[in-house]
Amino acid sequence: MASRMASDSSKQNIAIYPGSFDPVTKGHLDLIARGAQIFDRLVVAVAQNSEKDPLFAATERVQMLEAVTYEWKNVEVDVFEGLLVDYARTRNARVILRGIRAVSDYEYELQMAMMNRKIEPQLETVFMLPAEAYSYLSSRMVKEVARLGASVKDLVPGIVEERLKEKLGKRN
Ligand code: PNS
Repeated sequence: MASRMASDSSKQNIAIYPGSFDPVTKGHLDLIARGAQIFDRLVVAVAQNSEKDPLFAATERVQMLEAVTYEWKNVEVDVFEGLLVDYARTRNARVILRGIRAVSDYEYELQMAMMNRKIEPQLETVFMLPAEAYSYLSSRMVKEVARLGASVKDLVPGIVEERLKEKLGKRN
């Protein structure tokens, strides 16, 4: 019985949704909601040392993600370092989930997916489209408009809006 339970859980379709999430936006959340419906388990994986200079520390990004995903019982937030494919192997994941907003995303996403396939052919990248309302949304633009004093209320969850205000000292 125990061995059957172990093999059943190993058949779970686990997907990793990796990213910088600096910070999480409503576009990311839309994709998490879609991914959580398709996969048995979705691991939202925050890149600890992405090359960019992040506004939020990895622990802050994880904390915000945890706060906004707690309602999905099959969604987990984690942090990873190093190669994504190595991390995916440690989590028994068969799928990398990525969002594509517009054609402009495609080239970068294709390069990344092909590089990951080269290193780990067993791992599939699955692309999903966020709701049209979020097709222009990026963490980079959210930070920019927040820094310049515009409201980001419709673009990020409430907790992120608050954290941006604290970080950037704005009142909008
Ligand atoms: O949200 P982002 O910044 O577009 O996410 C990019 C991320 C973190 C998914 C990507 O940079 C990544 O997978 N980094 C881990 C290092 C790695 O595996 N690189 C080889 C694949 S390009």
